[in-house]
Amino acid sequence: MEPLRFNLEQSDIPTHWYNVVADMPKPPAPTFGPDNKPVPLEKMAAIFPMALLEQEVSAERWIAIPEPVREIYRLWRPSPLIRAKRLEELLGTPARIYYKNEGVSPAGSHKPNTAVAQAYYNSQAGIRRLTTETGAGQWGSSIAFAGQMFGIEVRVFMVRVSYQQKPFRRSMMRTWGAEVIASPSSLTQTGRDYLAKDSENPGSLGIAISEAVEEAASRADTNYALGSVLNHVALHQTIIGLEAKKQFDLAGDWPDMVFAPCGGGSSFAGAAFPFLADNAAGGKNGKLVRLVAVEPASCPSLTKGLYAYDYGDASGFTPIMKMYTLGHDFMPPGIHAGGLRYHGNSPLVSQLYHEGLIEAISVPQLATFESGVMFARAEGIIPAPESNHAIRAAIDEALRCKETGEAKTLFVNLTGHGHFDMAAYDRYFDGALDDHPYSEEALSTSLRHLPQVG
Ligand SMILES: Cc1ncc(COP(=O)(O)O)c(C=O)c1O
Repeated sequence: MEPLRFNLEQSDIPTHWYNVVADMPKPPAPTFGPDNKPVPLEKMAAIFPMALLEQEVSAERWIAIPEPVREIYRLWRPSPLIRAKRLEELLGTPARIYYKNEGVSPAGSHKPNTAVAQAYYNSQAGIRRLTTETGAGQWGSSIAFAGQMFGIEVRVFMVRVSYQQKPFRRSMMRTWGAEVIASPSSLTQTGRDYLAKDSENPGSLGIAISEAVEEAASRADTNYALGSVLNHVALHQTIIGLEAKKQFDLAGDWPDMVFAPCGGGSSFAGAAFPFLADNAAGGKNGKLVRLVAVEPASCPSLTKGLYAYDYGDASGFTPIMKMYTLGHDFMPPGIHAGGLRYHGNSPLVSQLYHEGLIEAISVPQLATFESGVMFARAEGIIPAPESNHAIRAAIDEALRCKETGEAKTLFVNLTGHGHFDMAAYDRYFDGALDDHPYSEEALSTSLRHLPQVG
């Protein structure tokens, strides 16, 4: 029987994360503070442990994964690489489609890969309390779980629209001992300001980040944890691509193209960066891998944003980073892929995109649900709405292969399962979803509000 699953042993869990900075043609663009000067690490130490800040600025190619982190990874890693043979047959494509199922983690997504590492380094630094934001609830549940593993209390500011749409994500976070607050909230000045303007504000990741950072900065016992965007988060996620490379060797295959959903960029970074290492060295057996970030058409930071300095949050508490952005006060439409509703993108992903080393495309909401349902009916797994973006792009490529007769190998980062997103699937079946195009006028207004740097 032809194998469909490519499983590694627990001893194959990578011992090091891969840092793409070592292979970038230019060093990462510096990050600035409100005073227009590069931000010193000590300043960031008010909300992050030094070990993570050192990773944030490191240019070392390989960074050792601490043994206590690997111990916890062992609960679900290595995650399986699966050949989507039934989907290939359904599409009638000569392409071979593989997916890495990150939905097997306790929280149901790739996010615990960094949550566990972040909770560990904070616990080593003596921190007993963390604040964070969450969109769809995937990150919040991951850090709630990770906090529980290391005895850390967690408060999660959850984007209000997701708080209402996903009550069971809230229950998960509470099960792992976290406190969940709908954002914008009345607990912070940021939240109160937004509520004063609009008491029905649906919230956004940018606002929730502001609330979590504001609280962490005002309390000595509390640090802040971010689920995406930053270099250390991208670093921790590379465990996905590193495992996948070993699994493709087992399968005797190698991807032509990698697809991952792209919100803040961490799951894309995790799947793609380890292949970029090969590309930088001329490609495996001379074969370069195309790396494709897939974003929602309603929140298209890479494909429609500007490569400019901007804040990582809505209110301007974070340092100013060079990234593709829609403007920090851009309010993304309320699509169901809550984890992709972010105005900016990872500075590393942005720089690599700017330099032409990776690609990006955007897909509309209805097409993503259509492909998620197709995937579920062929492969059994019901994907998260975010993951549906990568699946859509891979299906489109597989259909192109059908036209041309090319037998490309396509690798999808299936970043999570959709078990807590069934209300969104129901809305799709009931014809109650639309594509939620963004407003061009709102975009040009928010792009006028970028901070001036340099
Ligand atoms: C399942 C899933 N996939 C993808 C993402 C997008 O985030 P990132 O771009 O950091 O991977 C999220 C974010 O919450 C998510 O929950």
